[in-house]
Amino acid sequence: MRWKLVLLLLIGHTLCHCAQKENKTEITPTKDYIRPIPGKDEPVAQETLDKGEVLISYNGCYDCHRKEVRSKGPAYSDIAKRYPRKKIYISLLSQKILNGSTGSWGNPVMPPHPNLRPEEASAMATYILSLK
Ligand code: HEC
Repeated sequence: MRWKLVLLLLIGHTLCHCAQKENKTEITPTKDYIRPIPGKDEPVAQETLDKGEVLISYNGCYDCHRKEVRSKGPAYSDIAKRYPRKKIYISLLSQKILNGSTGSWGNPVMPPHPNLRPEEASAMATYILSLK
């Protein structure tokens, strides 16, 4: 009788262990996390990239984002891997920067940035999508 109990405990432990492992892989950026959208980058002006880089440094974006690693928000390089640098995605991400976002990368919420002008948000999105 007792060995059955031990066996059950062992199986339970193994199941728990596997479930934990699954959770862990969700946190590390994978192709599933990035979900790349096919498409080619469009050329952009160097001036826009410079403007975007400066604006990002002065608007608190680095409170939640890092270039290469995930923090509160997704890494900019992961965002760049998902979306091709095309007008349509630059405009989509500008809207998200202005109005806030959730659900694209998981549960955390990006608050809106109503103080930014649309062309500023667009320069930032262009810069982010250039960080491949
Ligand atoms: C308070 C934390 C926080 C701040 C500040 C913040 N972000 Fe985010 N950002 C997030 C989170 C969390 C996400 C993921 C949202 C989601 O899953 O939809 C995100 C997502 C994004 C995305 C990708 C959106 C998508 O749908 O793929 C872009 C682009 C972005 N942020 C740019 C910026 C820029 C530019 C700034 C500065 C103006 C900024 N963020 C400031 C937390 C933040």
